[in-house]
Amino acid sequence: MQMADIGLIGLAVMGENLVMNMESKGFTVAVYNRTLERVKHFVEGRAKDKNIIGTYSIAELVNHLKKPRRVMMMVKAGAAVDNLIEQLLEHLEPGDIIIDGGNSHFPDTMRRCAYVESHGLLYAGVGVSGGEEGALHGPSLMPGGSPAAWPQIKGILQAICAKVSDGSPCCDWVGENGAGHFVKMVHNGIEYGDMQLICEAYQLMRDGLGMSAQEMSNVFAQWNNTELDSYLIEITAEILAYKDTDGAPIVDKILDTAGQKGTGKWTAIAALDEGVPLTLIGESVWARSLSAHKEERIAAAEAFGRQITPVTGDKEQFIECIRQALYASKIISYAQGYALMRSAAKTYGWNLNYGGIALIWRGGCIIRSAFLGKIEEAFHRDADLQNLLLDPYFCGEIKKLVPAWRTVVSTAVNSGIPCPAFAAALSYFDGYTSGRLSANLLQAQRDYFGAHTYERLDAPRGQFFHTNWTGHGGDTSAATYSV
Ligand code: 2AM
Repeated sequence: MQMADIGLIGLAVMGENLVMNMESKGFTVAVYNRTLERVKHFVEGRAKDKNIIGTYSIAELVNHLKKPRRVMMMVKAGAAVDNLIEQLLEHLEPGDIIIDGGNSHFPDTMRRCAYVESHGLLYAGVGVSGGEEGALHGPSLMPGGSPAAWPQIKGILQAICAKVSDGSPCCDWVGENGAGHFVKMVHNGIEYGDMQLICEAYQLMRDGLGMSAQEMSNVFAQWNNTELDSYLIEITAEILAYKDTDGAPIVDKILDTAGQKGTGKWTAIAALDEGVPLTLIGESVWARSLSAHKEERIAAAEAFGRQITPVTGDKEQFIECIRQALYASKIISYAQGYALMRSAAKTYGWNLNYGGIALIWRGGCIIRSAFLGKIEEAFHRDADLQNLLLDPYFCGEIKKLVPAWRTVVSTAVNSGIPCPAFAAALSYFDGYTSGRLSANLLQAQRDYFGAHTYERLDAPRGQFFHTNWTGHGGDTSAATYSV
């Protein structure tokens, strides 16, 4: 009987493409799908005459696998994964490895990892990014789970993943239990942020400068030769140049309501749980939500009859300011995303390799960019870097960008063009770089109405004071907490 190096369950597009990718790298793959017709269709179609074995039950799939057996699930996130794990546990044995390559929420992966390990097996939750094309030609892979699973799956995963120009693989061990899926989630959040920043730059040019889609396409194409060099800038240039059958730019005909599948929301929720400001990604999620309320916005536009004030002055100069504002905001977004990963690593006991994560994202995935190389360098300089903004390179970059960034945000505000992500990034920067904020007043308010106490500038940290603000509240203070 022909034995396979790995089994894959779930023959939707991502699953099929990963199988084709594995086979093309010399691995024999056994496949199974709940709807058996799909197995037949695949093995008689794309998989014909390849080292791909169709199987028609979990037992048959397992019987075709070399030991320790490796089974990768590419099925719908949620109950389907739990269901399959139960079925697999009936047929696998200790030492075998179950891999989830779907878009699972990291707490689920943490739970499943512990559960599968309690049966003596190993578990891996692998973030897969790059869409259908990536799955076929080289995705960015973020594997986490049982550390002992890594040596068993490393060969296959690093063979099928994307490679950067120097040949290094966009796949490395991320960390324990749910770390891989957590990092994939943050990747998606960062993707939301990157896309929103580009959309804000676009709206400033479209509504502030009155530029055509073709003109803007040229601008984005130029930007792609600067620090902004990235997949998303590149496709934006192509999208803006794309003409409908009547010759008009198709982008001008697309309804301005954004969809979302929820990974941005998960990232923002994780940030709220961690108490880490992730303002740019949060605003990006809400910008999509606001866009979705199209009818309400049309009614409000009529009610207020608001006009956008065109941006005057040197057009080329303002375009360059927008580029710099985008770049500065992007640095903030990654600084916030990395701060979230750092905090979660502490909470969940993950030993994350931050520079390695930047390298994983350098190719194969939607946020791939030259910029990630700079982030990798920053963590190479200081593996324990607390915030990207404190790295000398990024600190120097931001210092150069601040004037243009302020110009863009204030111009947008004066013109009446929304720029929630640019503005949130700038506010975060101004807050993060303030030695003294306004929270002294906030603590006074909390102490006034709730006797929550406060610390003083002229007393050691950890010493708490309460003032009897009204003269009749008494001196009792409440226990304090800070998140
Ligand atoms: P299907 O072809 O039988 O629907 C994406 O939806 C993939 O997940 C498909 O391969 C689909 O199988 C699979 N899937 C969805 N729910 C599943 C479940 N409960 N058990 C097994 N596979 C499932």
